[in-house]
Amino acid sequence: MEQTKFTLPENEMPQQWYNIQADLPVPLPPVLHPGTKQPIGPQDLAPLFPMELIKQEVSTERYIDIPEELQDILRLWRPTTLYRAHKLEKALGTPAKIFYKYEGSSPPGSHKPNTAVAQAYYNKMEGIKRITTETGAGQWGSALSFAGSLFGIEIKVYMVKVSYYQKPYRRIMMETWGGNCIPSPSTETAIGRKILAEDPDCPGSLGLAISEAVEEAVSRDDTHYSLGSVLNHVLLHQTIIGQEAKKMMEKIDAYPDIIVGCVGGGSNAAGLYLPFLKDKIDGTKPDLRIINVEPTSCPTLTKGLYAYDYGDEAGLTPLMKMFTLGHSFMPPPVHAGGLRYHGMSPIICHLHKLGLVEATSVHQLATFEAGIQFARNEGIICAPETDHAVRVAIDEALKCKETGEAKTILIGLSGHGHVDMAAYDAYLSGKLVDYEYPAEKIQAALAHLPVVE
Ligand SMILES: Cc1ncc(COP(=O)(O)O)c(C=O)c1O
Repeated sequence: MEQTKFTLPENEMPQQWYNIQADLPVPLPPVLHPGTKQPIGPQDLAPLFPMELIKQEVSTERYIDIPEELQDILRLWRPTTLYRAHKLEKALGTPAKIFYKYEGSSPPGSHKPNTAVAQAYYNKMEGIKRITTETGAGQWGSALSFAGSLFGIEIKVYMVKVSYYQKPYRRIMMETWGGNCIPSPSTETAIGRKILAEDPDCPGSLGLAISEAVEEAVSRDDTHYSLGSVLNHVLLHQTIIGQEAKKMMEKIDAYPDIIVGCVGGGSNAAGLYLPFLKDKIDGTKPDLRIINVEPTSCPTLTKGLYAYDYGDEAGLTPLMKMFTLGHSFMPPPVHAGGLRYHGMSPIICHLHKLGLVEATSVHQLATFEAGIQFARNEGIICAPETDHAVRVAIDEALKCKETGEAKTILIGLSGHGHVDMAAYDAYLSGKLVDYEYPAEKIQAALAHLPVVE
């Protein structure tokens, strides 16, 4: 019998997060104050985040303990299962061995609660009563609302307006967990009112929703802000995924040749691959390949500039050195809502710059085609974001078919697509088209980058 599912007993769930900052061959560039353009200190971030998260953001300790109370909560859905895609391998006729680590079994259906519960926990410890955040298609807003319900914290979510009206089910999930979700731009903030005065029909963007959430958080003492991706502490919390996968693979004497993940801000992919990347950095696994997959409609790593930029549209956040399409970039309305962000995790950008990880982009029709092939063989209907990783994993497996190599491929299966069925409907009924963001528009957005000496 060939084993299909690999799990760990609850008492073998990792009890520490892995911090790649301890092992980077070159340290990360500093984060800069948006006004002075000088490196920021912990106090600059204190209006937004609890001090424990600020410490994690800059920590160079290799392992950071997961508090016991938090471990109890993570065990609601962790450890998550690692699968071997036997049926997909057969259907492709590939000698490659395909594994996938499935994060869709969490209550909100993705990897997002791994950090949402950690962030809610540290805010609770600091006496914070309310957290504001933004959400695109709603995965992050629903994960944070879930976390808020567990810790008795009020959650206010600014949801990109176009998604708020097109995708009501995630909003209803947020409300079920007690969250308050409103469309962005809204009349509740100065930046929202300004944008609405200029363009009453503005569909919103993730960068703008972040500006609104940050503006509200800094205006109230009882309120903090929370980000679902990009930042170092978010990637840190997600490393529980990769540590579990590594342990599970060790038990069957397997190790990936290639790891593939989709990247919006980069948290699920990095969460899976950072614990493995440690082995590439220390020379134990020099040939490990890591592929970050993004949409051609929002080609941050593949067509962006490596420069200092704001994390939000209004320029309220600190400046991070990252591949960026410019903070004023308005992404086209493709269905992988969670991948439509102008920037990218500074850790991933730094690793890409150092040549330790690769990046590629794929068109949306090809991703849905891969998602449907995956669903018809493995059963799981992935989120449209996740389908990007599945596409590239299938392509790599097909290359193995040509070369006859039996490579081991590990996919980050970041979430299910049960609340995204309208996207599958659009694909199945032939309404979706491919979209490549025009080079001139990227150039125009990049012209607004802040000037840093
Ligand atoms: C299922 C799923 N996968 C991936 C992403 C992309 O985010 P990240 O790159 O931080 O993992 C999202 C974001 O909303 C998501 O919902």
